Amino acid sequence: MNKVTVSKLWKMKAMGEKIAMVTAYDYPTAMLVERAGLEIILVGDSVGMVVLGYENPVPVTVDDIVHHTKAVVRGAKAPLVVADMPFMSYHVSREQAVTNAARLIQEGGADAVKLEGGREVAPTVKALVDVGIPVQAHIGLMPQRASVGGSFKVQGTDADTAATIVEDAMALDDAGAFSVVLEFVTAEAAEVITQTVEMPTIGIGSGPMCDGQVLVLHDLLGVYDEAPPFAHPYADLNRIITDALTKYREDVLSVSYPGEKHTVHMGEAEAEKLKKKMG
Ligand code: KIV
Repeated sequence: MNKVTVSKLWKMKAMGEKIAMVTAYDYPTAMLVERAGLEIILVGDSVGMVVLGYENPVPVTVDDIVHHTKAVVRGAKAPLVVADMPFMSYHVSREQAVTNAARLIQEGGADAVKLEGGREVAPTVKALVDVGIPVQAHIGLMPQRASVGGSFKVQGTDADTAATIVEDAMALDDAGAFSVVLEFVTAEAAEVITQTVEMPTIGIGSGPMCDGQVLVLHDLLGVYDEAPPFAHPYADLNRIITDALTKYREDVLSVSYPGEKHTVHMGEAEAEKLKKKMG
């Protein structure tokens, strides 16, 4: 697959072709995502919960995202790699936002950054786009905010709140975002946004009318016992990995592993010599 660019994503929207995006945080999974032909990898701040064991994304730092983005970029050359801007890494000032986004691109090797927020972050989006950093916006349910005094509930359930989300999307489109993630937004609101804005919409729990879809890798692969209601587990890695580890332990205890085919020997003469030498 050729390198996925922002202009390719725009062409896909124009042609009505759907865009597949997933999170990844390390070299081997990035390699597999590339092999499966997905267009976008997000090094999401969900790394905090699904890899680092935090309760929410708030403790994730720019250093964390740089570290994981470097590994992803080594594993996948073709997908567009988007690095998430962590909590409070773009709120203090536009200079702070540009400095941190530049680290994700320059040190991490990301192709673009993502940040949460509606019309209030449009000037920040514009500041980043103006210095040449492609920005993916993120509206609807915003996990960074939901974790600090918010709530994890579906967004845009009535005409007024849905209209606010549509207006946020329009402001971000005008500010130059190349795409927008719509998280846990009603399908009706997501459809209106998708038809209204020029940039491709990428849904997560926001119905089938978006231009593309994104899932957290660990939800898609069924790593944990629990996942959000909108996530579909395409595999049961929890069972597969637990079964493998249980069998491995049994084999170690019964000395069925390592077997002869996993073992290397020295020649008989050398073995005899060794025994003599060591008494
Ligand atoms: O961090 C993340 O994984 C995300 C997705 C939920 C879009 O922001």
